[in-house]
Amino acid sequence: MNTKVCVMGLGNIGTPVVQHIAKIYKQTQGYDISKEAVTTAQKNGINATTQLPHADIYVIAANTWFRNGAPDMNAIEDCTKKAAQLNPNALICYESTLVKGTARKLAKKYNLTNIAVCPHRWWKQEEDKYGVVQLRVLGTLNKESQTKALTFYNTLNIPTHTVTSIEIAELSKLVENTYYYLRIAYAQELKLLCNENNLNFDELRNAANTKWNVDLPEARNGIGGECLPKDIQFLLTNYPPSPLLNGAITQDNNYQAKLTPQNTTST
Ligand SMILES: NC(=O)c1ccc[n+]([C@@H]2O[C@H](COP(=O)([O-])OP(=O)(O)OC[C@H]3O[C@@H](n4cnc5c(N)ncnc54)[C@H](O)[C@@H]3O)[C@@H](O)[C@H]2O)c1
Repeated sequence: MNTKVCVMGLGNIGTPVVQHIAKIYKQTQGYDISKEAVTTAQKNGINATTQLPHADIYVIAANTWFRNGAPDMNAIEDCTKKAAQLNPNALICYESTLVKGTARKLAKKYNLTNIAVCPHRWWKQEEDKYGVVQLRVLGTLNKESQTKALTFYNTLNIPTHTVTSIEIAELSKLVENTYYYLRIAYAQELKLLCNENNLNFDELRNAANTKWNVDLPEARNGIGGECLPKDIQFLLTNYPPSPLLNGAITQDNNYQAKLTPQNTTST
């Protein structure tokens, strides 16, 4: 296939993404601002560079952060700006997790018309099932972007659930992870309640989970990792007064503060 593809950001997500794409699109390159990331990628057999190449399709898998109390989309903007300078007609596929409105704002700022948002759902514990090839939500800026993006993802054998806007695609990722966050926070609250009343939380959880529409997760050591705490904050950016979401964050902080070695080992 003659189409040139470049994956921007060669970390947890970008690495398996570029490896998968390179199997199908022979002219695929990985790009990262970090020399270390590029060297690691090259050692893994990836055609990688710190010099952004001209491409027909740019897949953005760089970092997004929540830091100093606010979302930080600087890496995404940097990637978009550089891709726009090299090829303003390229299709840009955002696979990073974005705050709602990011893709449209950048498209406008850099005068881009071919934009797709296809957030990643990669899950390292079960990469066979939930790796690069799994059902993904796809939202595009317009019909032309949709045609191009569908051709791209179909060629990659990545099934897509198409939505009518890039905002729905951006939000869907945040809603998925926040949904899980809320369920864990509820389990944590129940566990604290059990501890205070000398009841066994695992027994309660197993009992409740026998009902067909209940799926209480374990209450482990608090909600950690990078994605869940970040994504609930990204979602809150769009409606800060949410008592439910803010309550879940408070609950997680409360749970972590009350953890003792004794009750962490039982989960
Ligand atoms: N890790 C996961 O399980 C997971 C799952 C789904 C979605 N995501 C999302 O995917 C995105 C990437 O996550 P990750 O875990 O791969 O991050 P990571 O930290 O492993 O990798 C990000 C890479 O982007 C590079 N980068 C940073 N700024 C750049 C720039 N301006 N230009 C080019 N490269 C740049 C970094 O050097 C790094 O190599 C995030 O938005 C994350 O929320 C991650």
